[in-house]
Amino acid sequence: MSPRMDREAFCRQSNVVVVAGKGGVGKTTVTAALARMAADIGLEVLVVELDDAGGLPVLFGRDAAFDYGETVLYQPPGGGRVRGRVITPDEALVGYLEEHGLRRVAKRLVSTGVLEVVATAIPGIREVLVLGKVKQLERSGTSDLIVLDAPAAGHAVTFLTSALGLMDAARSGPLRVQAQEVVELLRDPARCQVMLVSLPEETPVNELIETAYRFEDLVGVALAPVIVNACYPVRTHLLADPVAAAEAANADPPGSAEAARLTAAARFRATRQDLQAIQLERLAAGLPLPQLLLPYQFNADLGPEQLGALSEAFGAAIDALSAEAAA
Ligand SMILES: Nc1ncnc2c1ncn2[C@@H]1O[C@H](COP(=O)(O)OP(=O)(O)OP(=O)(O)O)[C@@H](O)[C@H]1O
Ligand SMILES: [Mg+2]
Repeated sequence: MSPRMDREAFCRQSNVVVVAGKGGVGKTTVTAALARMAADIGLEVLVVELDDAGGLPVLFGRDAAFDYGETVLYQPPGGGRVRGRVITPDEALVGYLEEHGLRRVAKRLVSTGVLEVVATAIPGIREVLVLGKVKQLERSGTSDLIVLDAPAAGHAVTFLTSALGLMDAARSGPLRVQAQEVVELLRDPARCQVMLVSLPEETPVNELIETAYRFEDLVGVALAPVIVNACYPVRTHLLADPVAAAEAANADPPGSAEAARLTAAARFRATRQDLQAIQLERLAAGLPLPQLLLPYQFNADLGPEQLGALSEAFGAAIDALSAEAAA
């Protein structure tokens, strides 16, 4: 298989990818990297954010946030594209009612805050409205891939299980149909998969392993390879003596103060590298899923340049995975 085919096969594994993980591990960053990687091989990608666009526009070099309407975020010369939109329960409800000929009622319901009341009375309705909209977008076939930036860890499980709860609660009617269709989406691996993100650190790894089983057992959703974000590139010879190393390389040897600083920095890096290796092993032992490693970006703020590096690393990790599988 050519590298391009591997990436394309990976991106076409399911219509919807839900990116989930503990708060702050890089879900939004991974969502953007996956979307850009898929667009770079020519796919039409839709990124869905919940409630607001968050930090996503900045990664694509946009200063303005986007909302319920679709915005083009990225368009490489090759033909692919990344569009973004935000889905909120209110707007999903209005959309649903409008499509069922109830435009005027819809506007009034939202302006009077009725959804708040309904949502309290019927747990899970918000989630089903939002996922129902995602399902509708998936069925419309206007995107090769939809990437959903999910809420943090535990919330993501609740988010996905809510449709099951609602299906049990509503015996019949449009709500039940909607919940049922969402469950069908979640349980079909060709239509939806969850991509879990972690950092190579103890707590996120523990949490990822735990939520992985909850996603599989409670929701019945398929899991994509896991993403280990912000990995330090592995360097060798970190514990070499800086003066001896400079001599061996025919370079000017550092002064004693500089040599001390170099040694301290190298030790820090070596320790971090060892811890990372331990966590990657623990993750592999606790969860039998392939791992895709994304590199740490040594920048204060991430923008299009770093996103480019991350999406390229994402693609390269997929290539390596398929080469491994072929061997
Ligand atoms: N590979 C990386 N290298 C360096 N910094 C990163 C990397 N990935 C993410 N970050 C930074 O880490 C922070 C958290 O990333 P991000 O917002 O993607 O996480 P999140 O899981 O979406 O967070 P939240 O749970 O708040 O939505 C951001 O400041 C981001 O720029
Ligand atoms: Mg986020």
